Amino acid sequence: MTAPWQFAEFSPVGVDLSSTDAVRAYDRNQGTDPARDRALLDRLGVGPGTRLVDLACGTGSFVVEAARRGARAHGVDVSTEMLAFAGRRAEDAGVEVSLSHAGFLTYRHDGAPADVVTTKSALHQLPDFWKQAALLNIAGYLAPGGLLYIWDVIFTFPPEEYAGHLRRLVDEFGHTDGEGFSREDFESHLREEFSTYGWILEGMLDRAGFDIVSTDFPRPTHGEFLCRRR
Ligand SMILES: C[S@@+](CC[C@H](N)C(=O)[O-])C[C@H]1O[C@@H](n2cnc3c(N)ncnc32)[C@H](O)[C@@H]1O
Repeated sequence: MTAPWQFAEFSPVGVDLSSTDAVRAYDRNQGTDPARDRALLDRLGVGPGTRLVDLACGTGSFVVEAARRGARAHGVDVSTEMLAFAGRRAEDAGVEVSLSHAGFLTYRHDGAPADVVTTKSALHQLPDFWKQAALLNIAGYLAPGGLLYIWDVIFTFPPEEYAGHLRRLVDEFGHTDGEGFSREDFESHLREEFSTYGWILEGMLDRAGFDIVSTDFPRPTHGEFLCRRR
């Protein structure tokens, strides 16, 4: 039973990705690219038999590419529309993926521990207190030595410079031509969602039992953590 104080992760805030139209437009807006998925799978050493969990799997491109190479791919998402889309994508590709209607906090992993857990563009859905709970949950089903990969809107600019960096994020990424996510989408991300600083995530990862293998922040507002479960 869910505790009454549990964060309501099935009602995400910010950009609405739950409607059929939003899901249909998602891959175009996000620039989903199976070649990029394959490059990341290569980096993470995902191959036949790898147990991979992709949290907030969205339209399922990543889990489908993982399954194509023989991984046991689990996609997890709180949106039934996203999961339905991911299921159709797997069917069209002729591969098997397992899909769970659950979230960072509520996903319970059955069977052998995962070898690799990934989450892209989604951990910011949780306020920081709940990000820590989510990382503890992941640590509970990732095998010791297993890899955790996080990509997200993560801030590495000096805190006192925040206003200029957020303005630049909206100016550079927000589309005004109807192609891709709009300025309003990015504005609502910053206003309502919970992107945080890299140094806060570093502390959380350590406390959840992860060693940071590498980080890459190609922009002061975006980046990745690659971690290993101790
Ligand atoms: C911006 S999309 C990213 C999808 C995919 N990971 C990608 O990179 O394209 C965010 C996804 O997170 C899902 N989501 C939101 N809150 C979540 C939560 N607490 N747990 C799991 N998924 C969540 C949404 O339904 C949506 O599919």
